[in-house]
Amino acid sequence: MKNFVVFVGMMGCGKTTIGSLLGKRTGINFVDVDLEIEKDLKMSVSEIFNEFGEQYFRKIEKQKIFEYVNEKNLILSLGGGAFEDEETRNCLKKCATVIYLKASPSCLFNRIKNSINRPLLHKNFSVDTIAFILKKRIENYEKAHFTIDTCQKSPDEIVNKILRFLK
Ligand code: S3P
Repeated sequence: MKNFVVFVGMMGCGKTTIGSLLGKRTGINFVDVDLEIEKDLKMSVSEIFNEFGEQYFRKIEKQKIFEYVNEKNLILSLGGGAFEDEETRNCLKKCATVIYLKASPSCLFNRIKNSINRPLLHKNFSVDTIAFILKKRIENYEKAHFTIDTCQKSPDEIVNKILRFLK
């Protein structure tokens, strides 16, 4: 299988769950970009947004992703907004297999309604807000090499489909 896999998609689409499960099933190291940023800065993503703003977060996020672009054996999960950056997108499309984990706004809403660490949704958390953000991003998400709908599928089913694609 191709050994550098990148997961993209909206908040709550399952990038971390699926990425770490794929890692366990294949023995390939799994890295969550947001978690790495939180470890580096010793702050949560929400705290980074609050203290330094979204633009600063985007800069750090891009730098962090580019630390991995020469990897040959890695599963990487990006924050939901990271694939909006053209340079990041083009680079990852060349060096990795990019997988878009697709989910409808209502499915995403149900998955993240109890989570507090999504600064973009703090002020206006609704299915409509998620749909609004998704509408802006979907064109780029769909540039991934492979898309899989994650609603109504178990993590194991999703990973099985991904493994079949990667073979
Ligand atoms: C964001 C998604 C978050 C995190 C930050 C911004 C976004 O990651 O990077 O809150 O712009 O969609 P997840 O997609 O892992 O929740």
